[in-house]
Amino acid sequence: MPVTLVVGGQWGDEGKAKIIDYLARGMDVVVRYQGGANAGHTVVVGNDRFAFRQVPSGILYPRVTCVLGGGMVIDPTALIEEIDEIAARGVDIEGRVLVSAQAHLVLPYHVLLDCESEDRREGGGIGTTRKGIAPAYADKARREGIRASDLTRSPADLRQLVAAHVKENNKILKLRGVKALSPAGVAEQILKARRRLAPMVTDTRPFLWQAVAGGKQVLCEGAQGSLLDIDHGTYPFVTSSSCTAGGAATGTGLPPAGFDAIVGIFKAYCTRVGNGPFPTEEKGTTGKRLREIGREYGTVTGRPRRCGWFDAVAARTVVKINGVTDIALTKLDVLDTFESVKVCTSYRLGKNTINVFPADARDVAALKPQYETLPGWEQTTTGSTLDDLPKRAMDYIRRLEELVECRIHLVSLGPERSAMLTLPRVGPLSSLSSV
Ligand code: IMP
Repeated sequence: MPVTLVVGGQWGDEGKAKIIDYLARGMDVVVRYQGGANAGHTVVVGNDRFAFRQVPSGILYPRVTCVLGGGMVIDPTALIEEIDEIAARGVDIEGRVLVSAQAHLVLPYHVLLDCESEDRREGGGIGTTRKGIAPAYADKARREGIRASDLTRSPADLRQLVAAHVKENNKILKLRGVKALSPAGVAEQILKARRRLAPMVTDTRPFLWQAVAGGKQVLCEGAQGSLLDIDHGTYPFVTSSSCTAGGAATGTGLPPAGFDAIVGIFKAYCTRVGNGPFPTEEKGTTGKRLREIGREYGTVTGRPRRCGWFDAVAARTVVKINGVTDIALTKLDVLDTFESVKVCTSYRLGKNTINVFPADARDVAALKPQYETLPGWEQTTTGSTLDDLPKRAMDYIRRLEELVECRIHLVSLGPERSAMLTLPRVGPLSSLSSV
């Protein structure tokens, strides 16, 4: 498969990094296509734990070139820190990180504006990661952003450009009661970043086209998840980028028809961090149990994640939006001790039965999930081979496939690289058009 795309199937934190790490061993290029330092992609290798934010998770494989795609918003100072941290842990990154000239930069005023708007919103705001993501994408859409290509300007030009943007944004900060930034100070910070990052900035599109044409294996790495997508998520409780498959085309410059496999990553249950509707959320002991067993605390912010049962209606909708060809199911082992497991198979909205994840977050908030209960397997699955996976665990997998209308190809049973099963392909599903 020359081009493989990995997308988050829920509200992020599905364990994408582990699957990307698994797939990346056979890749030549890994390209991130959206988001920025709001992501926290954790890879566990033996006793080492890496938490990637902006650098694609493929960096641990020496033959992989990592590309930060044009759909990203990059915090340059945080990127340098991340690169230095990775290098300090013995990973040779020299010449292996390319930054798209089209990517936008997150500047300090974006972070201040993100924090200010979170503090100002009633009811706790969106619950953003406070990394400046929405203001940076807003500037991109308003055509007032600074792009990575600007890092290749002369120092004098760049200083002038950054200082002018800071002055303009200081007016907004002042209006909102936030202390203004020093234009010269921010310009110096970006000039410092320029020295390190400018050599990595290039038009990454021809690089990717040539890689594909030359038969190289390319993996597109999604961040966040489909239900946080700016268009398809629970707006306004979403991130500001296109996390779904469409975003991979615009965020890399690779043509949509060129994706050979679209792998959707789904956790065996659901989690959400931040605010917004979550139909299958369990607020009592079940939610707490899932959180503790699954260690559901944010990588970027440390916030406890909200937890609940697998939502097959949302998952089926996500499979359709993305054209998912294969599913990787993660953290199945977290359910090992449950006496029974529940799956949401439809919703009630007033008097109606709903089989599609609604377009309007107010409807999502009003849904009453309808559940099917399956017996738990009450056996440890970590360390299982395909042959000794408990029958009831396999029944759960097969039932999810039916409900979601897509084959599950990979099953992850723990954070370690080795805790992964590949399921045999068992032919097409009989019904693919119930929605
Ligand atoms: P932002 O992307 O920081 O603007 O945050 C918007 C929403 O997306 C908030 O609910 C965040 O908690 C959520 N979010 C952003 N990045 C991630 C992620 O990597 N994992 C899970 N949730 C995320």
